[in-house]
Amino acid sequence: MTADAELAAVPPAPILKDLTDENITENTVIINNQSRDRRLKYIMERLVTHLHEFARETRLTTDEWLTGIAFLVQCGKISSDVRHEFVLLSDVLGLSCLIDSMDHPKPKNATIATILGPFHAEAGEFENGDSICSDGKGEQCLIRASVKDTQGRPLEGVSVDIWETDSTGHYDTQYDGATADCRGIVKTDAEGQIWLKAIRPVPYPIPHDGPVGKMLEHLGRHPFRPSHVHFKLVKDGYDPLVTALYLKGDPYETTDAVFGVKSQLLIEIDRVTDPAMAARYGVNLNDWLIEYDFVICTEAEAAELKAESSRKYLAAKGLKLDLIDGLPVADLD
Ligand SMILES: [Fe+2]
Repeated sequence: MTADAELAAVPPAPILKDLTDENITENTVIINNQSRDRRLKYIMERLVTHLHEFARETRLTTDEWLTGIAFLVQCGKISSDVRHEFVLLSDVLGLSCLIDSMDHPKPKNATIATILGPFHAEAGEFENGDSICSDGKGEQCLIRASVKDTQGRPLEGVSVDIWETDSTGHYDTQYDGATADCRGIVKTDAEGQIWLKAIRPVPYPIPHDGPVGKMLEHLGRHPFRPSHVHFKLVKDGYDPLVTALYLKGDPYETTDAVFGVKSQLLIEIDRVTDPAMAARYGVNLNDWLIEYDFVICTEAEAAELKAESSRKYLAAKGLKLDLIDGLPVADLD
């Protein structure tokens, strides 16, 4: 098709009224409504409506709007394949926590999810018993975990992706030219078990040398996260579980800069005190020990919960909307 023919094939855009601060929202929604994608149409309608209302309610000035634009430009400039400033921004605004809870609801007897954070990266595959951390990077810690379904059956072949900082509180991706370290993927065995050597997690500040760090400073907030180890559990037919285990009693347990801590994910870190256990797992007596029993739900269980949660929310708001895949969508006409 030529460019002229393509232009001729585009239906005429709806006519807009004289634009004022009172009707700009309605007109923006009207022109966006040309989309035939019902979910996109609904998201854009709500985005424009709330964005405009935010500007109206705050009486946003041109200077403040330009400050906001400059802030986003700075977030873009500092971002790279390994520096995810926008994820960080979403995290410190509590948006990641909110979306994660809505998009991956779990049955009561399943392990709760928490934020992915900005440091997940490709990791190598390991065998049970391997160490995912270079020697000398911290105090050795045995991680032993089981994975079961919501009926209590052990799950074999679950991919368990684990990542944490080194003992200085830095992820491998924060070092120039560094290779993968303190991260790895291992599969559960026939009993649904994994065990790896890692290091005792430490608290660390999120990267705060960029615009998000400056924003926290202006808000009087500290940038620290409590000691934790991240986990991502994946198996076909099951809802992926992105979660983390947090050390109880950490000084930042109740003020996590990115709102990741949940009481179900707080653990007491232990020591390996049984010589038989030390010998079995090839670790030293008195090494640190983290043990946890994960429970993952099926995609069907998660989908039903998600749809139920959407229906409840819409009913409470008095909204009548179609759901597709458990998510509200706009009408096409
Ligand atoms: Fe982290």
